[in-house]
Amino acid sequence: MPVRILGIESSCDETAAAVVEDRCRVLSSIVATQIEVHRKYGGVVPELAARHHVEAIGVVIEQALDEARTGLDQIDAIAVTRGPGLVGSLLVGLCAAKAIAWQRELPLLAVNHLEGHVRSVFIEHPRIDFPAIALIVSGGHTSLYLCPAEGEYRLLARTRDDAAGEAFDKVAKLLGLGYPGGPVIEQLARDADERAFAFPKAQMKDGSLDFSFSGLKTAVRRTVQREGLTHATPSGATASPKVQNLVASFQKAAVDVLVSRTLRACEKESVGTVLVTGGVACNGRLRRAFEQAADREGLALYLPSPQYTTDNAAMIAAAGFLHLERGAQAPFDLNADASLTL
Ligand code: KG4
Ligand code: ZN
Repeated sequence: MPVRILGIESSCDETAAAVVEDRCRVLSSIVATQIEVHRKYGGVVPELAARHHVEAIGVVIEQALDEARTGLDQIDAIAVTRGPGLVGSLLVGLCAAKAIAWQRELPLLAVNHLEGHVRSVFIEHPRIDFPAIALIVSGGHTSLYLCPAEGEYRLLARTRDDAAGEAFDKVAKLLGLGYPGGPVIEQLARDADERAFAFPKAQMKDGSLDFSFSGLKTAVRRTVQREGLTHATPSGATASPKVQNLVASFQKAAVDVLVSRTLRACEKESVGTVLVTGGVACNGRLRRAFEQAADREGLALYLPSPQYTTDNAAMIAAAGFLHLERGAQAPFDLNADASLTL
Protein backbone atom coordinates (compact mmCIF):
# COMPACT_ATOMS: atom_id res chain seq x y z
CA MET A 1 0.00 0.00 0.00
CA PRO A 2 1.31 3.49 -0.80
CA VAL A 3 2.08 5.72 2.17
CA ARG A 4 0.17 9.01 2.22
CA ILE A 5 0.94 12.10 4.27
CA LEU A 6 -1.33 15.11 4.75
CA GLY A 7 0.86 18.23 4.95
CA ILE A 8 -0.26 21.49 6.59
CA GLU A 9 1.55 24.84 6.26
CA SER A 10 0.56 28.18 7.82
CA SER A 11 3.81 29.85 8.85
CA CYS A 12 3.28 33.19 7.12
CA ASP A 13 0.51 34.43 4.81
CA GLU A 14 -0.35 31.26 2.88
CA THR A 15 -2.77 28.67 4.26
CA ALA A 16 -1.82 25.41 2.56
CA ALA A 17 -2.64 21.71 2.67
CA ALA A 18 -1.44 18.87 0.45
CA VAL A 19 -1.57 15.11 0.13
CA VAL A 20 1.68 13.46 -0.95
CA GLU A 21 2.11 9.75 -1.64
CA ASP A 22 5.34 7.74 -1.43
CA ARG A 23 7.69 10.67 -0.79
CA CYS A 24 7.14 12.72 -3.93
CA ARG A 25 3.87 11.94 -5.75
CA VAL A 26 1.74 15.05 -5.13
CA LEU A 27 -1.95 14.06 -5.18
CA SER A 28 -3.08 17.59 -4.28
CA SER A 29 -1.54 20.90 -3.24
CA ILE A 30 -3.92 23.68 -2.21
CA VAL A 31 -2.61 27.16 -1.37
CA ALA A 32 -4.93 29.95 -0.19
CA THR A 33 -2.93 33.14 -0.35
CA GLN A 34 -3.67 36.22 1.76
CA ILE A 35 -1.79 38.62 -0.52
CA GLU A 36 -4.92 40.76 -1.07
CA VAL A 37 -5.41 41.10 2.71
CA HIS A 38 -1.88 42.41 3.32
CA ARG A 39 -1.33 44.36 0.08
CA LYS A 40 -2.70 47.66 1.37
CA TYR A 41 -0.30 47.53 4.33
CA GLY A 42 2.75 46.83 2.11
CA GLY A 43 3.65 43.73 4.14
CA VAL A 44 2.23 40.90 6.26
CA VAL A 45 0.25 42.03 9.35
CA PRO A 46 0.68 39.11 11.81
CA GLU A 47 -2.66 39.51 13.62
CA LEU A 48 -4.61 39.58 10.35
CA ALA A 49 -2.63 36.62 9.01
CA ALA A 50 -3.53 34.47 12.04
CA ARG A 51 -7.23 35.36 11.79
CA HIS A 52 -7.37 34.53 8.09
CA HIS A 53 -5.62 31.20 8.69
CA VAL A 54 -8.36 30.32 11.20
CA GLU A 55 -11.01 31.03 8.56
CA ALA A 56 -9.25 29.17 5.75
CA ILE A 57 -7.63 26.13 7.34
CA GLY A 58 -10.63 23.80 7.47
CA VAL A 59 -11.69 24.54 3.89
CA VAL A 60 -8.15 24.19 2.56
CA ILE A 61 -7.63 20.80 4.25
CA GLU A 62 -10.98 19.54 2.93
CA GLN A 63 -10.10 20.72 -0.58
CA ALA A 64 -6.72 18.97 -0.43
CA LEU A 65 -8.36 15.69 0.59
CA ASP A 66 -11.13 16.05 -2.03
CA GLU A 67 -8.70 16.81 -4.86
CA ALA A 68 -6.55 13.84 -3.85
CA ARG A 69 -9.74 11.70 -3.71
CA THR A 70 -8.57 10.64 -0.29
CA GLY A 71 -10.40 10.23 3.00
CA LEU A 72 -8.64 10.69 6.35
CA ASP A 73 -8.87 6.88 6.69
CA GLN A 74 -6.34 6.64 3.82
CA ILE A 75 -3.87 9.06 5.43
CA ASP A 76 -0.90 7.56 7.30
CA ALA A 77 0.51 10.64 9.05
CA ILE A 78 0.03 14.40 9.49
CA ALA A 79 3.03 16.66 8.79
CA VAL A 80 2.86 20.25 9.95
CA THR A 81 5.14 23.29 9.98
CA ARG A 82 6.32 23.87 13.52
CA GLY A 83 8.50 26.93 12.76
CA PRO A 84 10.11 29.28 11.95
CA GLY A 85 7.42 31.84 11.15
CA LEU A 86 4.77 34.03 12.76
CA VAL A 87 3.73 32.40 16.01
CA GLY A 88 -0.01 33.17 15.69
CA SER A 89 -0.03 31.79 12.14
CA LEU A 90 1.97 28.67 13.03
CA LEU A 91 -0.40 27.85 15.92
CA VAL A 92 -3.39 27.62 13.57
CA GLY A 93 -1.82 24.90 11.42
CA LEU A 94 -0.38 23.16 14.45
CA CYS A 95 -3.75 23.01 16.26
CA ALA A 96 -5.48 21.68 13.15
CA ALA A 97 -2.79 19.03 12.66
CA LYS A 98 -2.89 17.95 16.31
CA ALA A 99 -6.68 17.71 16.27
CA ILE A 100 -6.71 15.45 13.19
CA ALA A 101 -3.77 13.33 14.36
CA TRP A 102 -5.34 12.91 17.84
CA GLN A 103 -8.78 12.04 16.52
CA ARG A 104 -7.52 9.60 13.85
CA GLU A 105 -4.69 8.23 16.03
CA LEU A 106 -2.10 9.13 13.40
CA PRO A 107 1.58 10.06 13.85
CA LEU A 108 2.15 13.83 14.13
CA LEU A 109 5.29 14.96 12.27
CA ALA A 110 6.78 18.37 13.19
CA VAL A 111 8.51 19.85 10.17
CA ASN A 112 10.95 22.76 10.06
CA HIS A 113 9.71 25.15 7.34
CA LEU A 114 13.28 25.48 6.01
CA GLU A 115 13.63 21.72 5.67
CA GLY A 116 10.34 21.88 3.75
CA HIS A 117 11.89 24.35 1.29
CA VAL A 118 14.91 22.06 0.78
CA ARG A 119 12.67 19.01 0.27
CA SER A 120 10.53 20.95 -2.26
CA VAL A 121 13.30 20.31 -4.77
CA PHE A 122 12.95 16.52 -4.33
CA ILE A 123 9.26 16.49 -5.31
CA GLU A 124 10.24 16.79 -8.98
CA HIS A 125 13.80 15.43 -8.68
CA PRO A 126 13.62 12.50 -6.25
CA ARG A 127 17.04 11.07 -7.08
CA ILE A 128 19.47 13.88 -6.33
CA ASP A 129 22.96 12.81 -5.26
CA PHE A 130 24.45 14.01 -1.97
CA PRO A 131 26.37 15.94 -0.82
CA ALA A 132 24.58 19.07 -2.01
CA ILE A 133 24.64 22.79 -1.31
CA ALA A 134 21.17 24.23 -0.68
CA LEU A 135 20.35 27.92 -1.03
CA ILE A 136 17.09 28.89 0.65
CA VAL A 137 16.11 32.32 -0.58
CA SER A 138 12.74 33.63 0.56
CA GLY A 139 10.97 36.54 2.25
CA GLY A 140 12.15 35.47 5.70
CA HIS A 141 15.41 33.63 4.99
CA THR A 142 18.54 33.71 2.90
CA SER A 143 20.76 30.83 3.97
CA LEU A 144 23.23 28.37 2.51
CA TYR A 145 23.35 24.82 3.85
CA LEU A 146 25.68 21.93 3.23
CA CYS A 147 23.57 18.75 3.04
CA PRO A 148 26.10 15.89 3.46
CA ALA A 149 23.37 13.22 3.24
CA GLU A 150 19.59 12.97 3.15
CA GLY A 151 18.02 14.78 6.11
CA GLU A 152 21.33 16.34 7.25
CA TYR A 153 21.87 20.09 7.19
CA ARG A 154 24.87 22.21 8.20
CA LEU A 155 24.46 25.98 8.12
CA LEU A 156 27.24 27.61 6.06
CA ALA A 157 25.92 31.15 5.72
CA ARG A 158 22.90 33.29 6.52
CA THR A 159 21.88 36.86 6.05
CA ARG A 160 23.13 39.26 8.68
CA ASP A 161 20.20 41.64 8.13
CA ASP A 162 17.41 41.50 5.51
CA ALA A 163 16.45 38.37 3.58
CA ALA A 164 16.69 38.69 -0.21
CA GLY A 165 12.89 38.52 -0.67
CA GLU A 166 12.50 41.14 2.05
CA ALA A 167 14.87 43.41 0.07
CA PHE A 168 12.68 42.94 -3.05
CA ASP A 169 9.60 43.77 -0.95
CA LYS A 170 11.19 46.85 0.67
CA VAL A 171 12.51 48.26 -2.62
CA ALA A 172 9.05 47.83 -4.18
CA LYS A 173 7.44 49.54 -1.18
CA LEU A 174 9.92 52.42 -1.41
CA LEU A 175 8.85 53.01 -5.00
CA GLY A 176 5.14 52.47 -4.34
CA LEU A 177 5.06 49.41 -6.59
CA GLY A 178 2.92 47.21 -4.37
CA TYR A 179 3.28 43.96 -2.43
CA PRO A 180 4.84 41.42 -2.76
CA GLY A 181 7.75 43.15 -4.43
CA GLY A 182 9.47 40.20 -6.10
CA PRO A 183 7.01 39.48 -8.92
CA VAL A 184 6.42 43.22 -9.64
CA ILE A 185 10.15 43.95 -9.82
CA GLU A 186 10.78 40.93 -12.04
CA GLN A 187 8.07 42.07 -14.45
CA LEU A 188 9.23 45.72 -14.56
CA ALA A 189 12.86 44.67 -15.03
CA ARG A 190 12.10 42.45 -18.02
CA ASP A 191 13.13 44.80 -20.86
CA ALA A 192 15.01 47.35 -18.79
CA ASP A 193 18.72 48.24 -18.69
CA GLU A 194 20.12 46.39 -15.68
CA ARG A 195 23.47 48.16 -16.05
CA ALA A 196 21.96 51.65 -15.68
CA PHE A 197 22.83 51.85 -11.97
CA ALA A 198 25.82 50.24 -10.23
CA PHE A 199 24.93 48.90 -6.79
CA PRO A 200 27.24 47.49 -4.09
CA LYS A 201 27.64 43.74 -3.57
CA ALA A 202 28.42 43.31 0.10
CA GLN A 203 31.38 41.07 0.93
CA MET A 204 32.01 40.11 4.55
CA LYS A 205 35.30 41.48 5.84
CA ASP A 206 35.94 38.24 7.76
CA GLY A 207 35.75 36.21 4.52
CA SER A 208 32.53 34.48 5.64
CA LEU A 209 29.90 33.47 3.11
CA ASP A 210 27.18 35.41 4.98
CA PHE A 211 24.83 37.68 3.05
CA SER A 212 23.86 41.29 3.71
CA PHE A 213 21.14 43.10 1.77
CA SER A 214 20.62 46.22 3.89
CA GLY A 215 23.48 48.11 2.15
CA LEU A 216 21.94 47.38 -1.24
CA LYS A 217 18.53 48.54 -0.01
CA THR A 218 20.07 51.77 1.35
CA ALA A 219 21.91 52.38 -1.94
CA VAL A 220 18.60 52.02 -3.81
CA ARG A 221 16.92 54.45 -1.39
CA ARG A 222 19.70 57.03 -1.92
CA THR A 223 19.35 56.69 -5.70
CA VAL A 224 15.59 57.09 -5.44
CA GLN A 225 16.08 60.31 -3.44
CA ARG A 226 18.87 61.63 -5.69
CA GLU A 227 16.88 60.99 -8.86
CA GLY A 228 13.64 62.27 -7.31
CA LEU A 229 11.87 58.99 -8.01
CA THR A 230 9.84 58.69 -4.79
CA HIS A 231 6.10 58.45 -5.38
CA ALA A 232 6.82 58.50 -9.12
CA THR A 233 4.67 55.44 -9.76
CA PRO A 234 1.16 54.90 -8.47
CA SER A 235 1.23 51.33 -9.77
CA GLY A 236 3.84 48.97 -11.16
CA ALA A 237 2.28 48.94 -14.62
CA THR A 238 2.95 52.62 -15.28
CA ALA A 239 6.49 52.83 -13.91
CA SER A 240 8.82 55.19 -15.80
CA PRO A 241 11.81 53.79 -17.77
CA LYS A 242 14.12 55.18 -15.06
CA VAL A 243 12.29 53.23 -12.35
CA GLN A 244 12.39 50.12 -14.55
CA ASN A 245 16.16 50.49 -14.98
CA LEU A 246 16.55 51.06 -11.25
CA VAL A 247 14.69 47.90 -10.23
CA ALA A 248 16.47 45.89 -12.95
CA SER A 249 19.85 47.07 -11.61
CA PHE A 250 18.76 46.18 -8.06
CA GLN A 251 17.59 42.73 -9.21
CA LYS A 252 20.90 42.11 -10.98
CA ALA A 253 22.90 43.09 -7.88
CA ALA A 254 20.82 40.78 -5.64
CA VAL A 255 21.03 37.86 -8.10
CA ASP A 256 24.80 38.31 -8.63
CA VAL A 257 25.43 38.06 -4.89
CA LEU A 258 23.23 34.98 -4.49
CA VAL A 259 24.90 33.17 -7.39
CA SER A 260 28.49 34.09 -6.53
CA ARG A 261 28.12 33.21 -2.82
CA THR A 262 26.56 29.84 -3.73
CA LEU A 263 29.40 29.08 -6.16
CA ARG A 264 31.92 29.94 -3.45
CA ALA A 265 30.17 27.55 -1.08
CA CYS A 266 30.40 24.76 -3.69
CA GLU A 267 34.09 25.44 -4.18
CA LYS A 268 34.84 25.66 -0.46
CA GLU A 269 33.03 22.41 0.33
CA SER A 270 34.03 20.64 -2.94
CA VAL A 271 30.38 19.94 -3.75
CA GLY A 272 29.02 19.66 -7.32
CA THR A 273 25.27 19.64 -6.64
CA VAL A 274 23.23 22.79 -6.00
CA LEU A 275 19.61 23.14 -4.85
CA VAL A 276 17.96 26.58 -5.08
CA THR A 277 14.66 27.02 -3.31
CA GLY A 278 12.29 29.50 -1.57
CA GLY A 279 9.98 32.21 -2.94
CA VAL A 280 12.74 34.23 -4.67
CA ALA A 281 13.75 31.07 -6.60
CA CYS A 282 10.76 31.59 -8.89
CA ASN A 283 12.48 34.73 -10.23
CA GLY A 284 13.32 34.07 -13.91
CA ARG A 285 16.42 36.28 -13.88
CA LEU A 286 17.79 34.34 -10.89
CA ARG A 287 16.97 30.97 -12.49
CA ARG A 288 18.75 31.91 -15.72
CA ALA A 289 21.80 33.20 -13.83
CA PHE A 290 22.04 29.94 -11.87
CA GLU A 291 21.58 27.86 -15.03
CA GLN A 292 24.38 29.75 -16.81
CA ALA A 293 26.68 29.47 -13.79
CA ALA A 294 25.96 25.74 -13.43
CA ASP A 295 26.72 25.16 -17.14
CA ARG A 296 29.94 27.13 -16.88
CA GLU A 297 31.12 25.45 -13.67
CA GLY A 298 29.86 21.95 -14.49
CA LEU A 299 27.47 21.81 -11.51
CA ALA A 300 24.29 19.77 -11.24
CA LEU A 301 21.57 22.36 -10.55
CA TYR A 302 18.06 21.62 -9.28
CA LEU A 303 15.26 24.18 -8.95
CA PRO A 304 11.63 23.37 -8.08
CA SER A 305 9.00 24.55 -10.56
CA PRO A 306 7.54 27.91 -9.47
CA GLN A 307 4.47 26.40 -7.70
CA TYR A 308 6.80 24.68 -5.20
CA THR A 309 9.23 27.58 -4.65
CA THR A 310 6.79 29.79 -2.71
CA ASP A 311 5.20 28.48 0.48
CA ASN A 312 3.14 25.31 -0.02
CA ALA A 313 2.22 22.20 1.96
CA ALA A 314 3.46 19.60 -0.54
CA MET A 315 7.01 20.44 0.56
CA ILE A 316 5.98 20.00 4.23
CA ALA A 317 4.47 16.58 3.50
CA ALA A 318 7.57 15.66 1.45
CA ALA A 319 9.79 16.56 4.43
CA GLY A 320 7.40 14.65 6.70
CA PHE A 321 8.35 11.39 4.96
CA LEU A 322 11.91 11.68 6.31
CA HIS A 323 10.52 12.05 9.86
CA LEU A 324 8.08 9.16 9.42
CA GLU A 325 10.81 6.86 8.08
CA ARG A 326 13.02 7.73 11.09
CA GLY A 327 10.12 7.22 13.50
CA ALA A 328 10.46 10.83 14.64
CA GLN A 329 6.93 11.33 15.89
CA ALA A 330 6.11 14.62 17.67
CA PRO A 331 4.33 14.68 21.06
CA PHE A 332 0.86 16.20 21.36
CA ASP A 333 2.15 18.96 23.67
CA LEU A 334 4.34 20.19 20.82
CA ASN A 335 4.49 23.99 20.62
CA ALA A 336 5.13 26.34 17.70
CA ASP A 337 8.66 27.74 17.57
CA ALA A 338 8.79 31.10 15.78
CA SER A 339 12.59 31.12 15.56
CA LEU A 340 13.27 27.41 14.99
CA THR A 341 16.65 26.83 13.33
CA LEU A 342 17.68 24.08 10.90
O1 KG4 B 1 9.02 31.29 0.32
P1 KG4 B 1 8.05 32.40 0.40
O2 KG4 B 1 6.69 32.21 -0.23
O3 KG4 B 1 7.76 32.80 1.89
C1 KG4 B 1 8.74 32.80 2.88
O4 KG4 B 1 9.03 31.71 3.45
O5 KG4 B 1 9.30 33.91 3.11
O6 KG4 B 1 8.75 33.70 -0.21
C2 KG4 B 1 8.12 34.94 -0.34
C3 KG4 B 1 9.12 35.95 -0.88
C4 KG4 B 1 8.61 37.39 -0.92
O7 KG4 B 1 9.58 38.23 -0.33
C5 KG4 B 1 8.47 37.68 -2.40
O8 KG4 B 1 8.71 39.03 -2.76
C6 KG4 B 1 9.52 36.77 -3.01
O9 KG4 B 1 9.48 35.59 -2.23
N1 KG4 B 1 9.24 36.47 -4.40
C7 KG4 B 1 10.03 36.86 -5.42
C8 KG4 B 1 9.36 36.45 -6.61
N2 KG4 B 1 8.20 35.83 -6.26
C9 KG4 B 1 8.14 35.86 -4.90
N3 KG4 B 1 11.20 37.50 -5.44
C10 KG4 B 1 11.76 37.74 -6.64
N4 KG4 B 1 11.17 37.42 -7.82
C11 KG4 B 1 9.99 36.78 -7.86
N5 KG4 B 1 9.42 36.46 -9.01
ZN1 ZN C 1 8.90 29.89 2.99
